Amino acid sequence: MKKQINVGLCGLGTVGAGTAELLQKNSDIIEKRTGFRIQVTRAATIDPYDHLDVDFSNIKVTDSVSDVINDPEIDIVVELIGGDGIAKKIILEAFAKGKSVVTANKALLAKHSEEIFKAAYQSEGLFGFEASVGGGIPIIRSIKEGFSGDRIEGFSGIINGTANYILSSMTKGKADFSTALKSAQEKGFAEADPTFDIEGIDTAHKVIILMDLAFNGLFDFNQVHIEGITGIKPIDIELADKLGYQIKLLGKAKQGVKGFEGRVHPSLVKSDSMLAAVNGPFNAISVIGNFVGHTMSYGAGAGSHPTASAVVGDMIEISRNLMNGNSCRVLPLTVAIENLQKMTILPIDEIESEYYLRFLVKQPWEAINAIRDAFYKEELDIQQVEQLDGEQADACFVLAVLTGKMEERAIQGFIKDLETLPFNAFPIKLIRVEP
Ligand SMILES: NC(=O)c1ccc[n+]([C@@H]2O[C@H](COP(=O)([O-])OP(=O)(O)OC[C@H]3O[C@@H](n4cnc5c(N)ncnc54)[C@H](OP(=O)(O)O)[C@@H]3O)[C@@H](O)[C@H]2O)c1
Repeated sequence: MKKQINVGLCGLGTVGAGTAELLQKNSDIIEKRTGFRIQVTRAATIDPYDHLDVDFSNIKVTDSVSDVINDPEIDIVVELIGGDGIAKKIILEAFAKGKSVVTANKALLAKHSEEIFKAAYQSEGLFGFEASVGGGIPIIRSIKEGFSGDRIEGFSGIINGTANYILSSMTKGKADFSTALKSAQEKGFAEADPTFDIEGIDTAHKVIILMDLAFNGLFDFNQVHIEGITGIKPIDIELADKLGYQIKLLGKAKQGVKGFEGRVHPSLVKSDSMLAAVNGPFNAISVIGNFVGHTMSYGAGAGSHPTASAVVGDMIEISRNLMNGNSCRVLPLTVAIENLQKMTILPIDEIESEYYLRFLVKQPWEAINAIRDAFYKEELDIQQVEQLDGEQADACFVLAVLTGKMEERAIQGFIKDLETLPFNAFPIKLIRVEP
C-alpha cells in the first residue's frame, strides 16, 4: 500500500501558498487522521516564491504547469491560478490523464460547468471544488452529503466578503460607498479591481455552482439576474434601518411553482435576522431542505488560510478514496451523469417579492398623497412608509415605501408610471425585500 499521496500545486499565490503552508504546518495531525502523508512534490508558479512561509526543500518548483500535469508520480493536481485560460487547460488535461483535481476556481466552474463537470464524470480521477464557494465554510460538502436525502427548496446567502464588508461599513460606520471600498482595499478585503465583487458577478458564479448541486442539473450563468451594490446610497441604509432592516448583497435561488429562480441583488433583510448579524468580510449561507428545514452556515468566506482549509479538506477526502481504491465514492455533482440535464432559470420578470421603493421628492406631503393614490388605484398594498428628516442633497426630501408581495413585471411597470408623476425629482430606487 502507498504511504504517500503526491500533490502538484499550480499557482503559489494567496490560496496556493496557504495550501502549501497548511499541509506542512498540520502534517502531523493529517498523518494521524489519515494514516498516510499528503506531500506537495511539485509546484508551478511564475512568481518569486522563496519569501513564502513554506519549506521548499522537498518541492520541485517549475515555471511550467505541464511539468506538474505530466509528472507520473503526481496523484492530485491542484489548480489555484484562477481565470478560464490556463486553469481550464490544467483541469481538463489532468482529468484526461486520470489524475484527481482540486480547484477553488468559481469563475471557471460557473462559466464552463458542462465541459468541466462532464470531464470530471468521465475521468478516473476524483474532483474537489469545496473552496469555490464560501471559503472555509464546507457548504458544498453539506449539500452533496449532509443534505443528500433532502429536496432542497432554496438557499440564500452572503457569499462575497468584499461586498459585505462595504455594506457593513456603510451601516455600522456610516461610511459612503467609496470610503467603504477604499477601507476594504486598504485592509486587503478588496482587490485593486473590485468589479467582480461589487457588481455581484463573483456572487453569481457561486450561485450557479450551488444551484447545480442543490437542484441536480447544469444551470446557465448568463440566465442569473445580477445587480451589484454600487447604487446603494447612505440614505438607503438609513431608511432601511428606520424600517427595521439592513441591506445585504444576497445570492439566492429557489425552486418555485413556476420554475427555478437564481438571482443576485441587494436585499433588505430584517435587522433581527441571522443574516443581518453577518458583518465585515464574513459569509453565511442558509439552505432550506424539505426535511431538514432551515440551516445556516457561517464563517470566513475568503482569505489564504480559510480557503486553504477547504482545498486541503478536498485533498484529504480524495486521498482517502485513492488509498482505499475507491474511485468514485461521491460524484462530482449530486446526480449520476445520465441524469445530469441542462436547466433553465426564470427571467426576473416572473419572480415575486416585496419591494422597497425610495423616492427623492421636492414636496413630501404632496408626494406621499400621490403615491398612496397611485397604489390605491392599482389595488396594490403599501406595508410601511418612512422618510428622512429634513432636506437631503439636491434640496430633495427622501421617502421610502415597502410594498406588499407582487410580481416583478407588475412593479417595474408601476415604477415607470410613478416616474411620470410630477413630484418625482429623480429615478425611483428599487430594492427587493427578503421574506
Ligand atoms: N483569494 C481568496 O481568498 C480566494 C477564495 C476563494 C477562491 N479563490 C480562488 O482561488 C484561485 C486562486 O486565487 P488567489 O487569490 O490565490 O490568486 P493569486 O493570488 O493571484 O494567485 C494565482 C497565482 O498563480 C500564478 N500564475 C498565473 N499564471 C500562471 C501560470 N501560467 N503558471 C503558474 N502560475 C501562474 C500567479 O502568478 P502572477 O501573480 O505572477 O501572475 C499567482 O501567483 C482563483 O480561482 C480564485 O477565484 C480565491
